[in-house]
Amino acid sequence: MAKNSDWLTPGEISKLEKMRFIQRRANWLLGRWTAKNALSAYLRNSRPVSSLSEIEIQSADDGAPEAFVGGASAPVTISISHSERVGFCAIGPEGISLGCDLEMIETRSGVFVQDYFTPEEQALVMEASPGRQPLLATLIWSAKESALKALRQGLKIDTRNVSAHFPANDSGENWCPLSVQHAESSRTFHGWWRMWGEFVQTIVADPQPRIPMPVDKSL
Ligand SMILES: CC(C)(COP(=O)(O)OP(=O)(O)OC[C@H]1O[C@@H](n2cnc3c(N)ncnc32)[C@H](O)[C@@H]1OP(=O)(O)O)[C@@H](O)C(=O)NCCC(=O)NCCS
Repeated sequence: MAKNSDWLTPGEISKLEKMRFIQRRANWLLGRWTAKNALSAYLRNSRPVSSLSEIEIQSADDGAPEAFVGGASAPVTISISHSERVGFCAIGPEGISLGCDLEMIETRSGVFVQDYFTPEEQALVMEASPGRQPLLATLIWSAKESALKALRQGLKIDTRNVSAHFPANDSGENWCPLSVQHAESSRTFHGWWRMWGEFVQTIVADPQPRIPMPVDKSL
């Protein structure tokens, strides 16, 4: 990520200056850097930009990211995640519901699983071999977070109200299918997950998205 701030808009610099916590500033910058690079590649044929400062990633009142290019709303839907100094951004057409999430694969305690997972999700983790439990628990958590972003609610919703479903034995070596149901709205988000180094990446959307492509191959 660039050290200077010439890739930020005046509005972004002003927002950054109001952030007091170093970690929050770092994550916010990482998300903006990731999203701007992804968006400039995604729009390179339809709306090429000569500088990342032409792109502004604003936060809506609910916290969801919204992209602007040259001061005008960009014809896209985006979602951002940052974890352990790694950024992740999903981009789709405007008007869809979209959420993405990146999580480090790690052991989640029994208390965590009981507090945040549905009974079916708890059983899936507990019945897996000990070696596979960290991956499954991380995947379920990430899929939920992606769906909570697609709903534009975040953790305002009880995480047990969204339930993740996927073939239990998929390896995650390549993109694998998943879905997340939100009981209250009867909505189902379809999407994809994969292992990426030490991380799990998930993307969900409504309507059902095609398999994710890196932005340099998406057009
Ligand atoms: C969405 C949420 C679950 C993500 O938490 P997380 O896993 O710790 O963080 P991630 O790195 O995966 O994702 C963070 C990004 O999610 C996005 N996001 C935040 N709230 C969102 C929402 N309601 N809907 C969709 N996306 C949202 C943002 O782009 C955020 O990054 P940014 O603030 O730097 O732009 C959490 O931020 C949350 O519950 N937020 C909603 C409630 C809230 O506090 N809103 C603040 C209003 S300003």
